[in-house]
Amino acid sequence: MSELRVHPIDKFAVELKVPGDKSISHRSVMFAAISNGTCEIDGFLPSEDCLATVGALKQLGVEIKSLNESSTKLIVKGNRRQFVQPSEPIDCGNSGTTMRLMCGLLAGCNFEVELVGDESLSKRPMDRIAKPLLEMGVSVRGQGKNCTAPLIVRGSSRVKNVDYESPVASAQIKSAVMLAALAAEGKSTITEPFLSRDHTERMLNYLLVKNVRQGRTISIWGGQQAESRDIIVPGDLSSAAFWVVAAAARPGSTLLVNEVGLNPTRVGVLNALIRMGARINERVDESNCEPMGTVEVTGSKLKGIEIGGEEIPKMIDEIPILAVAAALAEGTTTIRDAHELRVKESDRISAVAENLRRMGVSVQEFADGMEIQGVGPHGLKAAEIESHGDHRIAMSFAVAGLYASGETIIHGTECIATSYPGFEEELNQLLKRK
Ligand code: S3P
Repeated sequence: MSELRVHPIDKFAVELKVPGDKSISHRSVMFAAISNGTCEIDGFLPSEDCLATVGALKQLGVEIKSLNESSTKLIVKGNRRQFVQPSEPIDCGNSGTTMRLMCGLLAGCNFEVELVGDESLSKRPMDRIAKPLLEMGVSVRGQGKNCTAPLIVRGSSRVKNVDYESPVASAQIKSAVMLAALAAEGKSTITEPFLSRDHTERMLNYLLVKNVRQGRTISIWGGQQAESRDIIVPGDLSSAAFWVVAAAARPGSTLLVNEVGLNPTRVGVLNALIRMGARINERVDESNCEPMGTVEVTGSKLKGIEIGGEEIPKMIDEIPILAVAAALAEGTTTIRDAHELRVKESDRISAVAENLRRMGVSVQEFADGMEIQGVGPHGLKAAEIESHGDHRIAMSFAVAGLYASGETIIHGTECIATSYPGFEEELNQLLKRK
């Protein structure tokens, strides 16, 4: 198992770029694959998760080539969804997005495909997509009551349209249903309790696949053909969030992040930090299909806040690093309505609580969140941290280590490669500064 050793650092001034957005990278290759021609993708995230999606599409007969050594520029030959049956199971690795969106993408394929994943992915609930897809005539068979992987997906040549009301605000459910709905006839709708990230809606519109949002409901019409267009993937705000917190709670530090995604359905982490007293400026350029721009942070003192309700889906992946920010703040932070954290790459509520306690922070766990007693920027104790095989836990606590009293060791850091190749190099740059 690999580990990271982190020691406390002084204030810093850094300008950086983060690798491509994970959610948008998955969608870029999937949607290019169903288009009617050749698409060039620039800014693709060559992480294990996104490469699992590339591998899956290649197994389905889609031609994808790298245009550079780092695989951040790809060329995809869309085949109008004329997929071929793979001879081997498709390995989705650690990636929930690959597995769930792939089920929607396979809706129109009248053959069986087996989808498998690693130990963590094989524990995650797939009934949330199996249920609406079954209503559409698409069978997703899995294990046990939560329909976990391995999955056998069997699409249909007559996919039915649906009006689906999802019990959870999840972009993965929404996207799987929308992709299946494209293979159906007529109009389908999907309603979610709160708005989740809208990358699928935006990118499909950009590829001239009409879909409309009214309130919490998306309507999409079947039978539309995605047009091939080149796609730019912005930097991942979820990755930038680690450096934002590394600077935000440290008076005297400055950070500038360039070319990062600033989609309003993803900026919950920045809004929460601003409420905590962080000094953050955003400059947004809306001309791309996804808003992107710069984030400038000036370190300051943070205070505890209450987080919950409809803002949760807009920061769902950043709650572990926000919890670290809460520990660095003065006062109490309460996070509620975040049950979904229990079924991510790890149980993130218990993983965050356990590791914060190791660093001397008092945390009360709830079924849907936690209450954190901030210890201020100088109050964290160095500790041995367990990643639980979860990339966001590993990176969040590496940042906590930058504020701790001595050497913090994070165990099990290979998982970082699922979303942020280059994290360790960026961290080492900070650790090397005098
Ligand atoms: C994602 C949606 C979110 C997020 C995940 C990526 C996506 O999951 O946590 O990291 O790309 O659609 P849910 O849809 O399960 O909320």
